[in-house]
Amino acid sequence: MSDAAATELKVYRDADHLAEKAAARIARAAAESIRHRGRFTLVLAGGSTPRKTYALLAQGEGEANIDWSRTFLFFGDERHVPPDDPRSNFRMAHESLLAIAPITNDQVLPIGTDLATAEQCSDQYSSALIKFFGMPAGTMPIFDLILLGLGDDGHTASLFPGAAALGVNDRIATWSPPGVLPPPVDRITLTYPALNAARQAMFLVAGANKAEALRDIVEGNATTQQRPAAGIRPERGRLTWLVDQAAAGLLQSSSI
Ligand code: 6PG
Repeated sequence: MSDAAATELKVYRDADHLAEKAAARIARAAAESIRHRGRFTLVLAGGSTPRKTYALLAQGEGEANIDWSRTFLFFGDERHVPPDDPRSNFRMAHESLLAIAPITNDQVLPIGTDLATAEQCSDQYSSALIKFFGMPAGTMPIFDLILLGLGDDGHTASLFPGAAALGVNDRIATWSPPGVLPPPVDRITLTYPALNAARQAMFLVAGANKAEALRDIVEGNATTQQRPAAGIRPERGRLTWLVDQAAAGLLQSSSI
């Protein structure tokens, strides 16, 4: 794992306990960002694991309370399918969070999938982020918090083992053909430079099917080509792993 000081790994009982603690940490990161910068820029992860966390944030009870009026939401990756498609990450986030939380459409920047190719959609998303952050060309947006998942094969966002997208360093977003895991559709994904420019990257990982990939990454037994999530090393930010006991099942006690 990268510089120990900026890396933390927490193990929770199960997926529900993980979701509860993740929601509380995201709310704390929101409060801290709003206190220091007046707003919170949060990148949502796709897949299925974050759904419980999003639902708790939408309810906003107890520690999971976010000031939505100062919050802006983005996506780390998307499948090249329409936003109402069951395989869409936007649809998952909409059902579990966006349709419930008091946040307006202009505070949410989805990855558009309306253009003919995933490559065109990735260029469109890069331009949209440059416009939102008002950044000089060639620089990366600095998100306050990026949520990430871990695929059974060690992929994260849509950065798949051995894929060309792993080597893209000159733009914010890129595209990728499908990986080995479903769904078999082209993807749009933030690149390593954009992900590693964040103030904090936070993995949410649940289930025994993730244990091998997590062990390889945490114990440094895999290359980024083999387990792309190993390439998430925020340059100036923090790296946080929130996992459940099933996912942590193969970790040596010294790693926990
Ligand atoms: C995607 C995701 C992907 C996901 C992992 C874990 O579009 O599929 O962004 O990186 O986070 O595949 O998915 P689960 O949470 O469903 O296990």
